[in-house]
Amino acid sequence: MAALAFEDVTVRFGAATVVGGASFSVGAGEFVSVVGPTGCGKSTLLNLAAGLLAPSSGRVLVDGVTLAGINRRAGYLFQGESLMPWRSARDNVAAGPEFAGMSRGAARAAAETWLGRVGLAGHGEKYPHQMSGGMRKRAQLAQTLVLDPPVLLMDEPFSALDVQTRQLMENELLSIWQADRKSVLFITHDLEEAISLSDRVIVLSAGPATRPLAEFAIDLPRPRDVAEIRLTAEFRAVEERIWEVLRGEVLKAYRQGEAA
Ligand SMILES: Nc1ncnc2c1ncn2[C@@H]1O[C@H](COP(=O)(O)OP(=O)(O)OP(=O)(O)O)[C@@H](O)[C@H]1O
Ligand SMILES: [Mg+2]
Repeated sequence: MAALAFEDVTVRFGAATVVGGASFSVGAGEFVSVVGPTGCGKSTLLNLAAGLLAPSSGRVLVDGVTLAGINRRAGYLFQGESLMPWRSARDNVAAGPEFAGMSRGAARAAAETWLGRVGLAGHGEKYPHQMSGGMRKRAQLAQTLVLDPPVLLMDEPFSALDVQTRQLMENELLSIWQADRKSVLFITHDLEEAISLSDRVIVLSAGPATRPLAEFAIDLPRPRDVAEIRLTAEFRAVEERIWEVLRGEVLKAYRQGEAA
């Protein structure tokens, strides 16, 4: 059974149909990326999966059960900043477990463990303004993972990082995923990132009424190093096949932007 499934989902905001009959799924333990041109409705799909937004028609299913309200099985990593500036890294990570009822001591211990796993051991005392962008992103990742959600929803989580930090974070995410086998729905507009991380890449059509146009299985060997795998002929071959589909949609979105 799929960990997460969209069944003929449509979303309307007023007169605008943003998502038009989208159907796709994420299997248990599967890493799925969704790529599509800017503004097509990617974040809207993630909000649906998180239960922050209800479909106008169709259903979102979590482990086969129709989602109503917040998706309690999912952790959500936002594109922007989500750390509380008045709390140290450790207390930012401990906040979720404490809120869920864990004792302060146990929550801080769990936070310390996760800070270590994302490469922030020894930085727990730092406040967000004392950390680099990459460190803040690591803390955010720990903040999501400390709750041990079986499903991870990620909205362009690394797009604001420099290339080197980004590749480090991507490799870290893969090693955590490999160890814990969460089901991941990863949104990005970066095709190389999508391919290097995923088991499957889904291409969305340009809006309005976006929906999956095609999907591609990524049969590259694991464990992967995201920088090295990009240099292989197999990677380039699958990238070319996906780009053939994606390019047309990117151009459509661009022309719509010009017309608007
Ligand atoms: N709450 C809302 N009310 C009205 N329109 C909305 C709302 N949320 C999103 N939209 C519209 O839906 C469309 C898709 O937005 P969305 O944020 O899902 O796109 P995206 O693919 O994530 O874009 P980007 O690549 O820039 O992050 C946009 O035209 C946006 O203006
Ligand atoms: Mg978005």
